[in-house]
Amino acid sequence: MTTEQNVLFTIFGGTGDLAKRKLYPSLYRLYKKGLLKEQFAVIGTARREWTDDYYREIVKETIKDLTISEEHAAEFASHFYYQSHNVNDSEHYVNLKELAEKLDVRYHINGNRLFYLAMSPNFFGTITQQLNEQGLVSDNGFNRLIIEKPFGHDYESASILNEQIREVFDESQIFRIDHYLGKEMVQNISTVRFANNMIESMWNNRYIDNIQITLSESLGVEERGGYYDKSGALRDMVQNHILQIVSLLAMEPPTKLKDKDIRNEKIKALRAVRLYKPEEVKDNFVRAQYGADSSKGTQLNHYQNEMNVADDSQTETFVAGKILIDTFRWKGVPFYIRTGKRLAEKGTQINVVFKNVPLNLFSEDVDEDLPPNVLSIYIQPTEGFSLQLNTKKAGIGLETDTLNLKHKHSAETVANSPEAYEKLIFDCLNGDATNFTHWDEVASSWKFVDVIRQTWDQDHSELPSYQSGSMGPAESDNLLAKDGFKWHWKPVNPDEEN
Ligand code: BG6
Repeated sequence: MTTEQNVLFTIFGGTGDLAKRKLYPSLYRLYKKGLLKEQFAVIGTARREWTDDYYREIVKETIKDLTISEEHAAEFASHFYYQSHNVNDSEHYVNLKELAEKLDVRYHINGNRLFYLAMSPNFFGTITQQLNEQGLVSDNGFNRLIIEKPFGHDYESASILNEQIREVFDESQIFRIDHYLGKEMVQNISTVRFANNMIESMWNNRYIDNIQITLSESLGVEERGGYYDKSGALRDMVQNHILQIVSLLAMEPPTKLKDKDIRNEKIKALRAVRLYKPEEVKDNFVRAQYGADSSKGTQLNHYQNEMNVADDSQTETFVAGKILIDTFRWKGVPFYIRTGKRLAEKGTQINVVFKNVPLNLFSEDVDEDLPPNVLSIYIQPTEGFSLQLNTKKAGIGLETDTLNLKHKHSAETVANSPEAYEKLIFDCLNGDATNFTHWDEVASSWKFVDVIRQTWDQDHSELPSYQSGSMGPAESDNLLAKDGFKWHWKPVNPDEEN
């Protein structure tokens, strides 16, 4: 493992929630492992007037559960500097530049700069433009830009945003975060596929019946109603995380495991996703909102009664859909996806459902289906795999039984494996863009999602609601039932299921 050790981070949104919850702890973990040594500095910048000392105290507070000792925490925090900043004010960039140059010399950074935009995308264009105009983009080291989602709210707005950023940074310098790509088991998809001939040789429409992807959340929108009501599950989860998972499952084997090769294959897969015509949307995508619930003793609001949500809101908190990929490999294999808030439990799973044997020799009726073979990839909270097989029931006769071969990463492995953000920051330091989304992926994803969103926006019929703690509305089950399938993952008893 190598890292560019010398780097100046400039974190816009340095006082924000993301910086405190994810970025500072991730930087500390890298520091603790020696993957970030002494030649680094961080400028945190935001509107608030903080001093360096106060900022360092905050940084120390965010890592207090991880620190080796107080001295070590203080040593780490001494690399942090604060500069109050108004992103619209050119003067402020001059101050930032002065500080950057000073720190560059102090820490022997050699001009390597990483700009992290951990704030509203409304400011991305202004910030990148100012970074360029005021000379913060260095000309003797690397310049990299990390940006957070949402990357636009449709294809058009994403294109405008992209053009603004591309005026300053080229594609190889832009690292668009999708934190699902930092998850251990999402990264494992390529290994499972390309390191196992048994799996990869069956990874096509001759052997696979359908693939199911579930991103289930048990919480409601909590305090994020303002953002969520303008977004909804389709934009919040499908456009990014789910389509990224689809691309990893559907892509062709890359010739090498280099970022360029992998991203090329993902781009091809996403371009092959069939775009629905507006009149096809209703048959292939369903949406719903969570209802009120008091069955567990506490009163949970209907989505429309959540804080900062319009009381006639038509924003979906659940979406299920069928994705078709027009390639030789996937023709005829539906990828069913679903995600929602306030569902039965928090969990992410992929279930690859294989076709049945041609004839059931174990039944009077040779056409009767045996339970299918299912390869499940557990992404979170459990990390692991299972393979559902049919075997002989022990004893006299030839009755069949269904068996689940399982592997779960141990609690220790899960606890010790790096956090998504830690891995992503580390990759970015190494200039490795494998686990970041390329613009062409973003563009294809929006084009797919836009048709659905626009069709829904014109449909004023009442949204169905679903019961909190369920796995969504009946419409989601019907989506599969009409193709003769059913959702494999039914978290009735989560302990048993996982
Ligand atoms: C974010 C969404 O991208 O992902 C949230 O904006 C969602 O609404 C979150 O809760 C889920 O991420 P994770 O890692 O908790 O599954």
